[in-house]
This record gives sequence, structure tokens and C-alpha cells, in this order.
Amino acid sequence: MSKVTVVGAGNVGATVANVLAHKDIVNEVVLLDIKDSFAKGKALDTWQQAPVDYYSTKVTGTGDYKATKGSDIVVITAGIPRKPGMSRDDLISTNAKIVVSVTKSILKYSKKAIFIIVSNPLDVMSYAALKAAGVEPHRVIGMAGILDTARYRAFLATELSVSPKDIQAVLMGGHGDTMVPLPRFTTVAGIPVTDLISKVALNKIVARTKKGGGELVKLMGTSAWYAPGAAAAQMVESIIKDDGRIFPCSVWLQGEYGLKNMFLGVPVQLGKEGVKKIIVLKLNREEKKLLKNSAQHVTEVIKSFKKMKLV
Ligand code: NAI
Ligand code: 2OP
Repeated sequence: MSKVTVVGAGNVGATVANVLAHKDIVNEVVLLDIKDSFAKGKALDTWQQAPVDYYSTKVTGTGDYKATKGSDIVVITAGIPRKPGMSRDDLISTNAKIVVSVTKSILKYSKKAIFIIVSNPLDVMSYAALKAAGVEPHRVIGMAGILDTARYRAFLATELSVSPKDIQAVLMGGHGDTMVPLPRFTTVAGIPVTDLISKVALNKIVARTKKGGGELVKLMGTSAWYAPGAAAAQMVESIIKDDGRIFPCSVWLQGEYGLKNMFLGVPVQLGKEGVKKIIVLKLNREEKKLLKNSAQHVTEVIKSFKKMKLV
């Protein structure tokens, strides 16, 4: 028996619930939103898709935390998304309060849950959730790296006219314009990407990836949801199946990469306990510099969160 709660039934949350239902790997998905009828509607629509697309996962909507009781995994997408011209960091004053209160409410009914955080600014909201929950750090994981590497892989697939399935990549750092795609750890069917593409074209793709979220905000007037929702659902799948998969995720660092007491994107192995293992790569001098710069940026936003004195 497994139960997943998704908090926030907006664009990303509803997509997480829908993708997860299609995977047919959990018994129940509860979609919770302060707009409870909205959550009920999105859940009912997904449940009515089950006979067509053939899945058994029961999807229900609610505004009441009692319905989330005994959840194994909770995905938090509640909060406001950015509008054109805004950075993810601009969302902190609204979203920090939401993430802290949601985390505490969830914990009342699901003491053993693993938390996957999606709300932005991602690395700092993961920090906020950990502090609000006071649980073991391996139970709080931020979703960003799967999405950011997916964007990087999709751009490379277009440029090289190959299947996105064959592109493997690592990307580290904060979920923002300082993120660090790593061409040295990028392959196409096992072939180093640097053998297949010019330096100029690769640099353009790295730059586009860093601003990948903003590109979609400009196009749509709000942020993306299909790839983000699928990415969060992939994390749930990997935790439920405990299949040893490795993804870039934002996790609590305690000395890895020379960083401490903060969340930042690094490669990790997921498992039934949440974060099973943090993988430490041998970065070169330039890569270390970029990662340090990204960490410094996230540290500044953590300072803003601390000043809010919510936890
Ligand atoms: P949305 O506006 O479509 O949905 C947000 C939902 O949260 C709304 O339905 C709203 O009613 C609900 N909500 C607000 N306060 C709540 C509370 N206290 N309790 C329960 N529900 C509450 O926004 P969207 O597009 O789904 O984005 C959600 C968040 O995810 C944003 O902060 C966005 O920046 C972030 N995001 C993060 C990504 C990542 O890679 N980590 C990718 C895409 C979005
Ligand atoms: C994204 O990267 C806004 O964080 C969100 O699409």
C-alpha cells in the first residue's frame, strides 16, 4: 500500500498527480489545495481518465489535511509561480510562509513522510521545509535538477538530431540562472558530447539551459508544468520502487563539495528512505568555481529566509 499527497492542485501539482496516476505504481494520490473545489475537480478529472488510460491509482481531491493521513510521500507545489520579469527569488516572501505552514500541517497526519519540494525559490524552500519539519535531512528533497537536465538534454537532442533518450547529463548547483550544467559529464549513447558538437554550439546550449525556466515564463506568462510535473513524479517513482536510480536533486549538504548546512543540487541516489547516497564527483577548477558561485547565491537567499523568522 502506498499513498502520495500532492499539495497545490495548480499547474504543476495537477500534472504530478496525473503523471503519477498514469504510472500506476501507488494505490492512492490525494491532491490538496486551499481552493478545495479546484483540487476536487482536478482529481475527479484524473480519476475519470483512468478507464480510458487504464490505471487503478485512486485520485481524490481535498482541502482538508485529515485526508492526507498516512502519506508515504508528499510533494509540495503550493505557492505562487513567477510572472515575466520576476526571478524565482522574488517569490520568497509569499512562498516561504506557504511552505512552512503546509509542511507543519502535513506532518501532523504523516509523521514518516518523505517530502519532495517543488515550490520556488527551490533550494531555499527545501531548506524551509526541513527546518519546519525538523525531520532527518534525507527525508527532504528538492526537485530541480531532473527538470534542468531535461531541458539541457532536450536542447542537445534538437541540436544533434538524436533521441533525447540517448542523452545522459549531470547538472549541479542552485535552481536559478547560476546552475551549472556539466558538459564534461554529458554523453550521447556513451559518446562524450564534446566529441559531437562545437564548443560554440555547446556554450549556447549551456546558456539557454540556465535561463530555460525564464524562456517558458516569457512564452506563457507563467512558469512551466509538464516537464516539472513529470520530473517530480519520476522522483516519487524512484523512491517507491527503491530501484537505485541516480538523479540531480537539491539535498542537505554536510561537507560534500565543501558546502555545509544548505540545500543545493548535486547527484544523488534515491531510495525508499529518500536520499540514499550523495555522489561526490571530482570537479575541475572551473567547475568548482561555478558551483561555489551558485552556492553563494543560494546562501544569500537563505539569509533572506532566516530574516523572516518563520521557523
Ligand atoms: P499554480 O499557481 O498553478 O498552482 C499553485 C497552487 O498552490 C494554487 O492552486 C494555489 O491555490 C495553491 N496554494 C497556494 N497556497 C496554498 C496553501 N497554503 N495550501 C495549499 N495550496 C496552496 O502554480 P504552479 O505553476 O503549479 O507552480 C507552483 C510552484 O512551483 C511555484 O512556486 C513555481 O515557481 C514552482 N515551480 C518549481 C519548479 C521547479 O523546478 N522546482 C518548476 C515549476 C514550478
Ligand atoms: C522552472 O524552472 C519556474 O522553476 C520553474 O520552470
